[in-house]
Amino acid sequence: MALHTIRLPLRILHLEDSVADHELTCMTLRRAGMAHTVHQVDTLDAFRNALCHGAFDVILADYNLPGFTAMDAWALVSGETGHPPFILLSGAIGEAAAVDAMRLGIADYVLKDEMARLPHVIERAREVHEARMAREQAARDLAHSQQRLAELTEHLQSSIEQERAAISREIHDDIGGSLTAILFDLAWIGRHAQQAEVCRHAQAATSMLQHALEASQRIMMNLRPPILDQGIVAAVQWLANGFEQRSGVTTQVCSSSATIALSADIQLVAYRTAQEALTNASKHARAQAIQIDIADTGGVLTLEISDDGCGMEDGALRKAKSFGLRGLRERAKTVDGWLDVSSRAGEGTSIILSVPLHRSSEEEKTP
Ligand SMILES: Nc1ncnc2c1ncn2[C@@H]1O[C@H](COP(=O)(O)OP(=O)(O)O)[C@@H](O)[C@H]1O
Ligand SMILES: [Mg+2]
Repeated sequence: MALHTIRLPLRILHLEDSVADHELTCMTLRRAGMAHTVHQVDTLDAFRNALCHGAFDVILADYNLPGFTAMDAWALVSGETGHPPFILLSGAIGEAAAVDAMRLGIADYVLKDEMARLPHVIERAREVHEARMAREQAARDLAHSQQRLAELTEHLQSSIEQERAAISREIHDDIGGSLTAILFDLAWIGRHAQQAEVCRHAQAATSMLQHALEASQRIMMNLRPPILDQGIVAAVQWLANGFEQRSGVTTQVCSSSATIALSADIQLVAYRTAQEALTNASKHARAQAIQIDIADTGGVLTLEISDDGCGMEDGALRKAKSFGLRGLRERAKTVDGWLDVSSRAGEGTSIILSVPLHRSSEEEKTP
């Protein structure tokens, strides 16, 4: 093991009441070529004080000291996050005490009679310590970036919903209003036209216009169906009916009650979950039938969409460019809920959204 790695001198805190042993320790480290600075203390107060005011890379401690043991010193250190490795450097203390010390988290134990081992033990303890610090930092960084990703997703989802609502309003107010006015004018022209050709053109324009009006209605419905105002059960039923008509796949909805009161945000999460699950069923499942169950029993909203299709292939949920189910997972989290996906090849797929309904009744309003 390389003891001569280029590092700043090792800062050692040495808890030792014997000057001779302290000198021996320093000499051993010097001989091993281990650059170091050392601060020696021999009382618990001085030890505590040194910890408060100094920064150390390693702590060496004799076991038996006047009026206390190394374990009292360890108790001061062990609660601190990122504390340096703590090594017992002592005369024989008996197997039971040594086992106890290691169990409590002490980095290592070196007998003064085997002082030559010390440089290696320090190196190893420092490596373990650095690896642990790096691991803890990586875990903190990961948690932080997961948190940021969740916040970004929530922000994006709510921006999308706001944008959808705004586009839908504009289609309704501007385009819908103008098209309806043109429809009236065309009808007037048709009624007052003298020439048959003008009448024909007015009729052709009217039917084109009706087509455009239907299209704008359809786009508005898809952006944010007004049926959501009638509650989640009605909205899911409406979604299922439309899906059945378009796809020809039998789609049944079963609900624990005729209406389920939900806050606007939970309702939207449930609606988008049903919508994506149906889209997936038509895109991927080759299903014959779909069953949707919705219930609010036991203070939890559960929405289950099951198909009898081909089931998911291996790795389907890890596909790089598939964000449907990942988005639903993140959406569920925004209302403290979660999404379960279960699927077996040839036996269909079930998507289950669960959301605890712990919010106060004042918040439970429809959008
Ligand atoms: N109902 C289903 N039946 C079979 N496979 C499915 C079903 N739903 C999803 N999958 C699989 O899981 C993948 C991920 O789905 P999703 O996240 O919604 O992304 P996308 O639909 O855009 O591919 C799909 O590409 C598909 O392979
Ligand atoms: Mg999808």
